[in-house]
Amino acid sequence: VQIYADGAVISDMVKAKESGVVKGFTTNPSLMKKAGVTDYLSFAKEVLAKVTGLPISFEVFSDDFDTMAKEARKISALGENVFVKIPITNTKGESSVPLIKKLSAEGIKLNVTAMFTLEQTKDVLAALKPGSQNILSIFAGRLADTGIDPMPLMKEAAKLCHENGNGWLLWASCREVFNIFQAEECGCDIITCTAPVIAKFPLIGTSPKERSLQTVQDFNKDVKALGFS
Ligand code: E4P
Repeated sequence: VQIYADGAVISDMVKAKESGVVKGFTTNPSLMKKAGVTDYLSFAKEVLAKVTGLPISFEVFSDDFDTMAKEARKISALGENVFVKIPITNTKGESSVPLIKKLSAEGIKLNVTAMFTLEQTKDVLAALKPGSQNILSIFAGRLADTGIDPMPLMKEAAKLCHENGNGWLLWASCREVFNIFQAEECGCDIITCTAPVIAKFPLIGTSPKERSLQTVQDFNKDVKALGFS
């Protein structure tokens, strides 16, 4: 499974690229808001100038399909490596599949986002232009937040994507390092991880005994400030 970095803090993105572990980037409006982005296009241009060459997804920001189409064309024209994120529906729940079909036919690389079901996966795959490159982002973490195990869905969706050949399956809303191993087991092509998850990568491979000792030492460092007598 390939690791992408999920975020909108440019210094984090540069660091992630330099690490060599990260093979692409995803952003979304909430991450941009959190990072304090106020000018979408100049942010996107700065990111593209600083993290050249790797796939990067930017999301459309309107809610009506005609405006989304215009934004998608503009965003796509920013670079060869740009994937345009289209939410699977608008905020009224109306399907974006006709728009996806139109944009894909125009040769725009898409990242269909906010996906949660196999039915959506089938519909999107059927709408994509044969031979095109796209990403299907299923929000495994948000599904897990509702008490549902995302793994059966991710396994089935990965199978469908690989049979179809026009979409890479991305495990979105990664919550912890262990999700990378789950995504790998499910046959996902990509998992996108936020900076706090990426910061934990050096822990991979630490023995449980060592981790236990580190935990005791961490608590011990903090206990000194508590003034117990
Ligand atoms: C990635 O492309 C998604 O936008 C992101 O992983 C969503 O993460 P969240 O569900 O934690 O907001």
